[in-house]
Amino acid sequence: MINANKTMSLAIMSGKGGVGKTNLSLNLSYALNIGGNSVLLMDCDLGLANLDVLLGISPENNMQDILLSDAKPSDIVIPIEEGRKFDILPAASGVPELVEMDEDMQEMLFSKLTKLVGRYQFLVLDLGAGINGTVLSFAAMTQMRIVVITPEPTSLTDSYALIKVLHSNHNVSDFNIIVNQAANSKEAKDTFDRLNMACEKFLNIRLKNMGFVRYDPSVTEAVRRQIPFLKFAPKSDASRDILNIAVKIQKTRMENMGKLGEKPVMKKFPALAD
Ligand SMILES: Nc1ncnc2c1ncn2[C@@H]1O[C@H](COP(=O)(O)OP(=O)(O)OP(=O)(O)O)[C@@H](O)[C@H]1O
Ligand SMILES: [Mg+2]
Repeated sequence: MINANKTMSLAIMSGKGGVGKTNLSLNLSYALNIGGNSVLLMDCDLGLANLDVLLGISPENNMQDILLSDAKPSDIVIPIEEGRKFDILPAASGVPELVEMDEDMQEMLFSKLTKLVGRYQFLVLDLGAGINGTVLSFAAMTQMRIVVITPEPTSLTDSYALIKVLHSNHNVSDFNIIVNQAANSKEAKDTFDRLNMACEKFLNIRLKNMGFVRYDPSVTEAVRRQIPFLKFAPKSDASRDILNIAVKIQKTRMENMGKLGEKPVMKKFPALAD
């Protein structure tokens, strides 16, 4: 199906767990929405869904209902900002069959979602950590991938492993990096350079630096209060950083408008950057 609305899909992923994917997905989506874009944020962490927790909501229905019943995806999405088109599609949590969806199930899910996702300008997927089959399929199907890393050495090794698997097994070679929880821009740059150097040397791919988000106590506080940090502390370091990243992502969509119109929102196809 042709992408009439020029929806851009992006997957937020990481090798190591707990690096900040869900917080960045939520706040990046929020920032894109403030910037005037309609956004669907899909909780694709099918093992331990927790976007709803970050927002303090208890969805009655979720992705499982789309798969196992005739529920319409548009009835399951939850609007989270009044008057602006910013919706979330909640995931089921603790349903092992969904964590390792087989190909038939994935096909079914995507075909049921096609119409819905095409109604937004951005589709943001908050993926589970690591390299299980479902994560890899979701990641290979979006038009843009963002790997979240932190300055910790374990984050670097795990994200290298994730990039390597996607590159070797799924033929993906365009990766965007966000360094989260950096002390400052220098640490963020060093962290990016280390991962980029390894990927250039051993995989022959060059990563794109999308920016960084500083370590900021207001993130933790916003999590406790179940509000996006951009809403809770719009002038904080983390909020400023996420706004910078949102601007870059919006720019990427603008630059690729032509290509986006010709491509489906979620399908395996050559990356935008190629
Ligand atoms: N920039 C930051 N500054 C301070 N704390 C942060 C920052 N980013 C994330 N955190 C902390 O890290 C915790 C984990 O974040 P989050 O749940 O978004 O990670 P995740 O990658 O989605 O985890 P999982 O792999 O379990 O899905 C948050 O509760 C928050 O306290
Ligand atoms: Mg998460």
